[in-house]
Amino acid sequence: MKTLKIGVLASGRGSNFQAIIDSIETGYIQARINVLITDNPEAFSVERAKKHGIEPLVMLPKNYSSRDEYFRDITAELKKRDVELVVLAGFMRIVGKPLLEAYPSSVMNIHPALLPSFPGLHGQKQANDYGVKISGCTVHFVDEGMDTGSIIIQAAVPVKDDDTEETLSERILKLEHKIFPEAIKIFSEGRIEMHGRKVRIKGPVVDESPLINPPLGK
Ligand code: GAR
Repeated sequence: MKTLKIGVLASGRGSNFQAIIDSIETGYIQARINVLITDNPEAFSVERAKKHGIEPLVMLPKNYSSRDEYFRDITAELKKRDVELVVLAGFMRIVGKPLLEAYPSSVMNIHPALLPSFPGLHGQKQANDYGVKISGCTVHFVDEGMDTGSIIIQAAVPVKDDDTEETLSERILKLEHKIFPEAIKIFSEGRIEMHGRKVRIKGPVVDESPLINPPLGK
């Protein structure tokens, strides 16, 4: 099988970025990360990239006059490095049109809630404050809306009475680190079929594993 060339965009600590690196290094995913692009020079993701021999590239929005211009340049850098799949791993910006047009159904994001509930920032806090009993995380393709693109994989966790934003985030994050690499693996194997806005996964699906329906309490 061919090696998928990935470009990662991240703004922060990069624990999802690390989970993807690990899945590639163990051979679970046949892929290569050709570049890490960040909008934050202080991001710990930059250290992770350097440690794993991935080129870090800091691109600051303040150096551009518009969002489109910023994302046109990001797209050019990704194309220069032959990137085929763009992965947003805690990238805290709305993606501009030039990137989406250049990568149709090929930009993936992880969101810390069960979309379409609680889009935008602080999905875990929104869910906890609302009082839902189940939350989770979603890997989806990115479209022009705010967390509105086609859903690839979701995983659920219980919300406990004494949860805080932090404890719920921690429980969700563990599943993020499983479903994000899983979605990338499925993409890399060419097993994603689009039916309108619905994603169907060809071949063995993980829906019988605890990935999608983890036993309550775990
Ligand atoms: C993750 O929880 C991710 O789901 C969330 O940011 C965190 C990044 O953590 N993303 C969003 O909220 C996107 N709207 P990480 O840097 O350790 O991967």
